[in-house]
Amino acid sequence: MSQNSKNIHPVFDAILGRTTKEQLLKQHAKVIWMTGFSGSGKTTIAIALEKKLNAQGFLTQILDGDNVRVGINNNLGFSEADRTENIRRIAEVSKLFLNGGIITINCFVSPTIEIRENAKKIIGAADFIEVFINTPFEVCEKRDVKGLYKKARAGEIKNFTGIDAPFEAPLNPDIDVKTANESIEESANQILASILPLITFAE
Ligand code: ADX
Repeated sequence: MSQNSKNIHPVFDAILGRTTKEQLLKQHAKVIWMTGFSGSGKTTIAIALEKKLNAQGFLTQILDGDNVRVGINNNLGFSEADRTENIRRIAEVSKLFLNGGIITINCFVSPTIEIRENAKKIIGAADFIEVFINTPFEVCEKRDVKGLYKKARAGEIKNFTGIDAPFEAPLNPDIDVKTANESIEESANQILASILPLITFAE
């Protein structure tokens, strides 16, 4: 037991369990973990997917890099250590949602295999669905929706993923979304079709 947790007494056993929440919501909770370059379309696809899920009665929560980084993780930057801590906290938060029976859709660059493995370990392999938003780097840079690639090329942003910081593509993602030749609707539908059997509640 670490020094920090010495006088801490979690009451997980006394709290109403995940099964009770899932019965109430009539769904199975999962964490849909999207990884990909900045500008690959993670958040846009997540929003389209969430709308489709909600229309079918599923309760969801999107967690997104830019939003989380102005809130709970506003003390973190983009060094390897800070990204690791960013994802560790996100994974812990996702686990809380999971225990509340809620399907979370996570949109984080989460650039290395180790970082994603760590998230998977915290969340639990059975509940972690890895989705590779597989948009080529060149396409993301060309789109440059937020103007960040231009700034990174000009040296105004350091440690930018794909420029002077690494991105390791998933070797065996649960869902591989090749966005370059398809619409947002098609990408969202592909994910929806794959996850429906996992989240649908059998009476
Ligand atoms: S992660 O690497 O720690 O998973 P996260 O998904 O939270 O990154 O945040 C990425 C978002 O922050 C990008 O979409 C982009 O808008 C912004 N950003 C700012 N600086 C960087 C950087 N150096 N590398 C990548 N993204 C950055």
